[in-house]
Amino acid sequence: MSMTLTDPTLLRADLHIDGQWLAPAGRPRFAVTDPATGAVVADVVKGNADDARAAIAAADAALPAWRARPAKERSQILRRWHDLIMANLEDLAQLLTAEQGKPIAEARGEIAYGAAFYDWFADEARRIYGDVIPSYAADRRLFAIRQPIGVCAAITPWNFPMAMIPRKAAPALAAGCTMVLKPASATPLSALALAELGARAGLPAGVFNVVPGGAAEVGDVLATHPTVRKLTFTGSTEVGRTLMARASATIKKVSLELGGNAPVIVFDDADLDAAIAGTIATKFRNMGQTCVCANRIYVQAGIHDRFVAALAAAVAAMKVGNGVDDGVNQGPLIDMAAVEKCEAHVSDALAKGARIVTGGARHALGGSYFAPTVLADATEDMLIAAEETFGPVAPVFKFATEAEAVERANATEYGLAAYFFTTDAARIWRVGEALEYGIIGINTGATSYEGAPFGGWKESGIGREGGRTGIEEFLETKYLCMAGIAPLA
Ligand code: SIN
Repeated sequence: MSMTLTDPTLLRADLHIDGQWLAPAGRPRFAVTDPATGAVVADVVKGNADDARAAIAAADAALPAWRARPAKERSQILRRWHDLIMANLEDLAQLLTAEQGKPIAEARGEIAYGAAFYDWFADEARRIYGDVIPSYAADRRLFAIRQPIGVCAAITPWNFPMAMIPRKAAPALAAGCTMVLKPASATPLSALALAELGARAGLPAGVFNVVPGGAAEVGDVLATHPTVRKLTFTGSTEVGRTLMARASATIKKVSLELGGNAPVIVFDDADLDAAIAGTIATKFRNMGQTCVCANRIYVQAGIHDRFVAALAAAVAAMKVGNGVDDGVNQGPLIDMAAVEKCEAHVSDALAKGARIVTGGARHALGGSYFAPTVLADATEDMLIAAEETFGPVAPVFKFATEAEAVERANATEYGLAAYFFTTDAARIWRVGEALEYGIIGINTGATSYEGAPFGGWKESGIGREGGRTGIEEFLETKYLCMAGIAPLA
């Protein structure tokens, strides 16, 4: 392992259950590899169904005391967790880049973004208000209070491990819930380091448990166990659908942050520089491996050729390499399957009439590197228009009118994020209202913020994370109806 951590104890490779680090004798381990080099970063204990059940039991046992803690105390622990993450940012960034591949500058940004959820929800913990309801009878008083839903399970993805875990754990714990987390097997080290810092921040044993392992063993127990009252998942629509079906037997509350097929619309009146910068930000962040990534870039006829030329020039200038190296802004993809998907989308597009403006193939560095790519003359019959590429391939489609652009942008079963670029104020309102998406970037390709609701319409998901609404997902409402209150004598 080439990375050197200031605090080597942040590199954890065991299960984290009931406040203990566990490596049961004879238990298999799985290798976490650096996508840039193929080197093994750590061998992590492979959790199984019994471990998942033990973690659920620990979370259940910890629940009464945690939800009884005054909100102010829960808030203080979350804020300490935030502070510890920020104090260890450089080590965490090294870990994240080593297991995930993203450029180190992006890793630092992700860690600060993730920590901000603890800061935000430390405040929200103290603002879980109820209602006093005007009564329908003279002797009755009516109230609604909001209480933690109970033991929560989280299944998180490999693309933003340092942000997606806090986006779920911070509101859950702020609400008074306890949690069992199954991190993606490609990136469990971020989750385990976060658990270590959570323990140092003062989380009681059992409040936050981490069980790396397979979907069939660990994930399925989390989705079906009757003690788990809430399942929160970020990942593909396909897996989300399966988890929702599995969770339905015990009528769990579910939050699903699923796939996207984000359109970018560039109108003739757009500021070209802003449109290029925004398109690069949304398309090439994390090498195109984000759910909110631009997948289809619609450009109006009058600005089309200038846009394609400027985008291709910017993309061709990107520095591809190991994310820890200076100036690199495109690292390797997570694995070879990701490379093969990019290749399949490019070759299908070429066969149907697209042309490569830059890139278009595996990068000369080999491994899971793919050259940042711009395709022109894309059309809706191509795979790339219908499926999320999840890689650094930017297909450009030409359009004529505003109505046509909106119709084509909405013609998908997904509805996570959309972006458009225009300087016309009336169009901003019209198009902003007409797009059927949960997140709209207007003259920007970067919208994510801990204080704003993140989530999708249609098959992109259920529920919202972050912001004022994020904590609602972890609360139940209880109506109290008090009778027999005699009037003043
Ligand atoms: C995602 O793509 O999964 C999350 C990206 C973000 O929060 O900005």
